[in-house]
Amino acid sequence: MKFQKVNTLKGEMTIPGDKSISHRAVMFGSLAEGLTEVSNFLQGADCLSTIDAFRKMGIEIENTPEKILIRGKGLHGLQAPSSVLDMGNSGTTTRLISGILAGQTFESTLTGDASIQKRPMKRIMEPLSMMGAKLVSVNGNDCAPLHITGSPLHGIHYHSKVASAQVKSAVLLAGLYADGETRVTEPNLSRNHTEIMLHYFGADLQAEGKTARIAPEPRLEGRQIDVPGDISSAAYFIAAGLIVPGSEILIKNVGINPTRDGILRVAREMGANITLLNEKHDGEPTADLLVKHSPLHGVTIEGDIIPTLIDELPVINIMAACAEGTTVIRDAAELKVKESNRIDIMVQYLSAMGCDITGTDDGMIIHGGKPLRGTVVDSHLDHRIAMSFAIASLAAGGETEIKGSDVVNISYPGFYEDLARLCKS
Ligand code: S3P
Repeated sequence: MKFQKVNTLKGEMTIPGDKSISHRAVMFGSLAEGLTEVSNFLQGADCLSTIDAFRKMGIEIENTPEKILIRGKGLHGLQAPSSVLDMGNSGTTTRLISGILAGQTFESTLTGDASIQKRPMKRIMEPLSMMGAKLVSVNGNDCAPLHITGSPLHGIHYHSKVASAQVKSAVLLAGLYADGETRVTEPNLSRNHTEIMLHYFGADLQAEGKTARIAPEPRLEGRQIDVPGDISSAAYFIAAGLIVPGSEILIKNVGINPTRDGILRVAREMGANITLLNEKHDGEPTADLLVKHSPLHGVTIEGDIIPTLIDELPVINIMAACAEGTTVIRDAAELKVKESNRIDIMVQYLSAMGCDITGTDDGMIIHGGKPLRGTVVDSHLDHRIAMSFAIASLAAGGETEIKGSDVVNISYPGFYEDLARLCKS
């Protein structure tokens, strides 16, 4: 797809449902007894991979335009899949489902696309093996495909080296099938959607600080879930509204869980004018975000805020490129093992656009304020790379071309249409 600089962005929008919460609703609904109804489910390719996997294990899941209906069969109701489970591009599906499959009484094999087959799985294989799970990387490279032989599991207290909700969730889900309590302590708190939702489904789960604990064999019961809009998807429109002169955008019903709202905190520190309206705090908190164009300045982003904005760092790079002064990002080595190596790729293409950016071992340094010019970007099978450079193009001279642009369907089908609707020439 090709993009040009725009004059301004104006209007109101509702962004699609949260990806992390949509995945979990299908997974936990499948393990619960009775009907789970999910509204505002994200119809992105990643979440459809999760639906597919549970259907292959005998769960009836109806996908209607208004609601997803999941007829759960309880903790021990899954059946052996008749074929390999295809995770597509989804790291969340791969890692969380591994925790569930580890405690079953059958064998299964998981695979996925070229990106998934390069992503590290040792981080879940290690703790799950400590619990007694039998997981093998088929090609012996600690990546998918994974072969899992369901086994009796033991409760452990796992101290994770990375702040990763996917690792934490895999261990907690295996803990549903363990012979005693399971605990996970992480170096910094990662997103806590698993803790909130499993508790809502009836699990005996407590979270305190950086430790979550779960008791085995709960009776999970079907629930109603209204998925909030995804702040990670809203991030592109927040950035667009801030960097394009004269813009004013109202983004409705966005999830503002404190383990995900780092982008709001950083944007404000950079000088952003963002107002939260219509805040709701029952269950997962939400608000409408009113974003107005603002002159931005560089900041340092490091430490325990990193997990709360890890997926937003590519688009925060774009904001930093348009800000006056220097932005330093540290403690974000996790960027190298996302859908692509997001340090290398951001440095490669932002440099090509004329930005002064240097990659480091755990982040990047950006001297902002230089005018950007269009370039050709390859998405590298990474939805967040494609969307970040679509936003950069709005403030860049000349033409920007994004190859592999349809990868946005992973987390945001309709992204380009929503963007085009707000752009005013
Ligand atoms: C996710 C957790 C994060 C995030 C990913 C979704 C989740 O990954 O990057 O997009 O739904 O649990 P890590 O837990 O590996 O940091």
